[in-house]
Amino acid sequence: MPDKFITLTPELHSYVVEHGARQDEVLRRLAAETEELGDIAIMQIAPEQGAFMTLLVRAMGVRRALELGTFTGYSAICIARGLAEDGTLVTCDLNGEWAQVAKRYFDEAGVADRVDLRLGPALETIRELPADEPFDFAFIDADKTEYPDYYEECLRLLRPGGLIMVDNVLRSGQVLDAGNDDPRTLATREVNDRAIADERVDVAMLGVADGITLALKR
Ligand code: DHB
Ligand code: MG
Repeated sequence: MPDKFITLTPELHSYVVEHGARQDEVLRRLAAETEELGDIAIMQIAPEQGAFMTLLVRAMGVRRALELGTFTGYSAICIARGLAEDGTLVTCDLNGEWAQVAKRYFDEAGVADRVDLRLGPALETIRELPADEPFDFAFIDADKTEYPDYYEECLRLLRPGGLIMVDNVLRSGQVLDAGNDDPRTLATREVNDRAIADERVDVAMLGVADGITLALKR
């Protein structure tokens, strides 16, 4: 089989964003404000990933969603907008300043009533969530060193047929760099190795943005 992938140029990526993501004025303003935070703005999800998340959440009829790593709220808005009528999103982050930005934009996007933002370490927050109120969808982002634990906790909290999306599974290519022993890279590799071998889930890894894995609980 010939190699069937495309290495995007910045121009081709812009084309993807222009034709593959309807960013409204609120998301554009949020992205612009996040950009002003400097280098950490890279933690915001890509617009085409956001469009994919809204579509996926809507297609699945998600009523209960979970997010680890709110940052300034772009991905939470994308999830919340895809939720069913009476749906809710629980999202967690450690950083109170980012959370303030996120909350402002939840209001502006008209999703504040469906979003429950929990301040604190994501792992502690989700360990306290009961499994008898299962989630339909979970987005794993936040602290990369916790990825293996996030993955296990999310599987526990998901209903059968529920979907996990894991962000940054390629880590800008660092997963392949044998010399890279950054704890965040090690933990990401561990979750990637675990997911593909995990009989509890169906798996697809996609080369979108910084790489995402979809794991559907059987
Ligand atoms: C980083 C974290 C993210 O979640 C992301 O999407 C991109 C970069 C980081 O920590 O550098
Ligand atoms: Mg990320």
